[in-house]
Amino acid sequence: MGFEITRVRTAAGLRACARCMAASDPWLRLGRGYAACLKSLAAPREVYAARLDGAFAGCIAVQPYGVLNCYVQTVCAAPEFRGRGVGTALLAFVEKRFFAKGPNIFICVSSFNKGAQRLYRRLGYERAGTLKDFIVKGSDEYLLRKTRRQ
Ligand SMILES: CC(C)(COP(=O)(O)OP(=O)(O)OC[C@H]1O[C@@H](n2cnc3c(N)ncnc32)[C@H](O)[C@@H]1OP(=O)(O)O)[C@@H](O)C(=O)NCCC(=O)NCCS
Repeated sequence: MGFEITRVRTAAGLRACARCMAASDPWLRLGRGYAACLKSLAAPREVYAARLDGAFAGCIAVQPYGVLNCYVQTVCAAPEFRGRGVGTALLAFVEKRFFAKGPNIFICVSSFNKGAQRLYRRLGYERAGTLKDFIVKGSDEYLLRKTRRQ
């Protein structure tokens, strides 16, 4: 599907991304409300939104600096777009941009988020570690890494 992916630079755009996250698992289950979601999108992260025929279809936020660079902070498809390729398109966009700058892309996924784990595995992300009881007790976060082919 031909999603248009552009950088989100306005406060209203970031609020739309945070609303999409805060209404959905895993953020609901992890107790990450709207304010926490909005904060997780703040600079220096780069946030990109996907649109189809003008409609908001999903977003991705990337932490471009630090030891774990590039780190995908968030990827979220709007509920009505899930399973229609927007998550794959957003990750492909980020991979194209950031594999040009460095060899690794990292992402965390909750142990209960089996659907997202399946997608990341299919896209070549491998488990690099387990953060036990990391955000809430009883749920681990898996740190995944995809390495660029040399
Ligand atoms: C995970 C997510 C970003 C994937 O984006 P997507 O556009 O739905 O995924 P795609 O259409 O590109 O690929 C489909 C794959 O995504 C995964 N997936 C995860 N949750 C899904 C959902 N609710 N609906 C459909 N697919 C989902 C599956 O692996 C699916 O592959 P399958 O059909 O073989 O099972 C999206 O479903 C989403 O926003 N889920 C809720 C928030 C979330 O879990 N974000 C990830 C945090 S680490």
